[in-house]
Amino acid sequence: MSTHEDPAPDSPQAEPTQSGITRKTLLRAAVVTGFAVPLLGTGAAMAEERSPRFTTAAGPGGSPLAVTPECHDGDAPTIAEIEGPYFEPGSPQTTVLQGSNSGTHLVLSGVVYGLSCAPIANALLDFWQADSGGNYDNTGYKLRGHQYTDSQGRYTLTTIVPGLYPGRTKHIHVKVQAPNQPILTTQLYFPGVSQNSGDAYYDSRLLVNLSGSNATYDFVLNVQQNPGPPNPPPPPPPGGGGGTWVAGHTYKAGDVVTYNGSTYVCVQGHTSMTGWEPPNVPALWRLQ
Ligand SMILES: [Fe+2]
Repeated sequence: MSTHEDPAPDSPQAEPTQSGITRKTLLRAAVVTGFAVPLLGTGAAMAEERSPRFTTAAGPGGSPLAVTPECHDGDAPTIAEIEGPYFEPGSPQTTVLQGSNSGTHLVLSGVVYGLSCAPIANALLDFWQADSGGNYDNTGYKLRGHQYTDSQGRYTLTTIVPGLYPGRTKHIHVKVQAPNQPILTTQLYFPGVSQNSGDAYYDSRLLVNLSGSNATYDFVLNVQQNPGPPNPPPPPPPGGGGGTWVAGHTYKAGDVVTYNGSTYVCVQGHTSMTGWEPPNVPALWRLQ
């Protein structure tokens, strides 16, 4: 098995803002308290266009964070990193990774936000990582799994602390995708790991906040959001046709289905199966 990961194509990454209370902070507070918040200004501050690049924000409970910045209005999205050689499509949908019973227990949780700091429901997160010995399961789905954020944009992953392998510090790979939006591919790192400083891909903006066996990390996706409701519901499924995607069904090219509030068109006939949900297999389903 190779342990090589290609050089990071990293690029411009905006610094976190140093401002205090912002629209995003208010929106976030509104999510917590359930209050509506009068919005300041327009969407101009979040209108900048970037490549599909995402970045970090963070932190449980709105408390100040030492390393990972809060989700502030105008923040750059969570930075992208290389995929590496070990991603496998078709991971099982689970919040408890297979193989997480062997190693140092870790629960990773957080929120997926858009550019307005409103949480994103039904965002896809697909995690993969090495086991405690630094090995990836390249024949099965041990320590691989995907899940969707809940109505408040939250995710929780039960796993283990990944091991080291030559040339890399401890890291967890993840792809994050809001419905109908580009995929962010990135990695998360752990504080206090001596190998961080020697890892060419390590970036402190991707550090989790670690407390015992609990780690938190909030993603900010490069997704423009209507600054109205703090938690916009997913679009309703279209009336009349196709129905909801199900596993074990034979689909033909041109079939239209809905999945997690999004509409997909089948581009290649196949029999569906768990793990091949439309967002995971662009070769089979195209977003409409
Ligand atoms: Fe890796």
